[in-house]
Amino acid sequence: MGKNSASTIPFYTFLSISSILFASHFHAYEAQTNVPIVKGLSYSFFSKTCPNLETIVRTQLQKVFKQDNGQAPGLLRIFFHDCFVQGCDGSVLLDGSPGERDQPANGGMRTEALQTIDNIRALVHKECGRIVSCADITVLAGRDAVFLSGGPDYPVPLGRKDGLSFNTKGTSNLPSPFNTTTVTLNTFAPKNLDVTDVVALSGAHTFGRAHCGTFFNRLSPVVDPTMDKTLAKNLKSTCPNANSGNVANLDIRTPTVFDNKYYLDLMNKQGLFTSDQDLINDKRTKGLVNDFAVNQNLFFEKFVDAFLKVSQLDVLTGNQGEIRAKCNVVNSKKSVLEDLVEEGMRLINQF
Ligand code: HEM
Repeated sequence: MGKNSASTIPFYTFLSISSILFASHFHAYEAQTNVPIVKGLSYSFFSKTCPNLETIVRTQLQKVFKQDNGQAPGLLRIFFHDCFVQGCDGSVLLDGSPGERDQPANGGMRTEALQTIDNIRALVHKECGRIVSCADITVLAGRDAVFLSGGPDYPVPLGRKDGLSFNTKGTSNLPSPFNTTTVTLNTFAPKNLDVTDVVALSGAHTFGRAHCGTFFNRLSPVVDPTMDKTLAKNLKSTCPNANSGNVANLDIRTPTVFDNKYYLDLMNKQGLFTSDQDLINDKRTKGLVNDFAVNQNLFFEKFVDAFLKVSQLDVLTGNQGEIRAKCNVVNSKKSVLEDLVEEGMRLINQF
């Protein structure tokens, strides 16, 4: 008995230590990527001029998500919708009458999350001056939304400038939830995003919400036979009609966590949009859905690569564009002058 227990203790100790190491390995998942970096962007862009930038963004978002974790999916969607229309240039942040945000494809965008981007911009400009763009802050916020919700942590290249205009027509290039996989793939292909990118990016629907009008097509006039019956019943009670302002979770299993459960939903006919559920019916995407459902690390790896590609779409760098003083408006000549004075005062105060 004594001999037995003496030899079993180290064995169990080994087991528990290795399980801790194993768990911490996955917790500290750090992505490796081979995605090329476009000219003008760099991983160390602000390492000398604003070394605390990423800490400011992350610390602020930690506070915000503690109050309202719905802002995490809100920020990730804003990132995608910014980059997909006219590149990652902060165009979706601009007010207009109408602006990009007023277009149907941008319906449901969370105003609180837009405000969070400008609040972070204010904190960063206070510490470092007007040198970081709203476009870069949007990318950092999207990255941190993923990590702080349980997803992978990964570096993103920085150095984007803000655009001088928005593009209301460009929103028609955004993917539609009513589409089949063929159309969805054709929407992403012009941006050099392939089948793996599309399946991985769709995994962003592992958290957040959708308004009734975006999936009502699957409930009425007939229930989509590729939808789980219980889910359909529940959604019908949430959505009396397409125009109801009600919302449903995109991932019924873990609606606030960035994990691979979205793919398990699809395997169980529990995807919300036609564009989600059809990924399991198309032979080009089905295998990837299965792979991601059983291997979360593989999903994270492919998601990071696709995120990095999206984050570099048609970026403005160098002398192009500007650094906005406020994320929702382009700079006026007056604000440029005011900022120069403010920057001068900040530098004088440093000495
Ligand atoms: C495959 C094509 C895609 C389609 C058809 C699509 C469509 C939609 C729609 C209709 C909504 C619901 C909006 C609402 O009613 O409030 C939504 C939400 C969302 N989408 Fe997508 N999307 C796609 C790809 C992406 C990508 C690539 C990302 C990011 C990488 C993304 C991130 C999100 C997130 C996080 C939400 C939840 C937003 C929130 O809770 O506020 N989507 N998407």
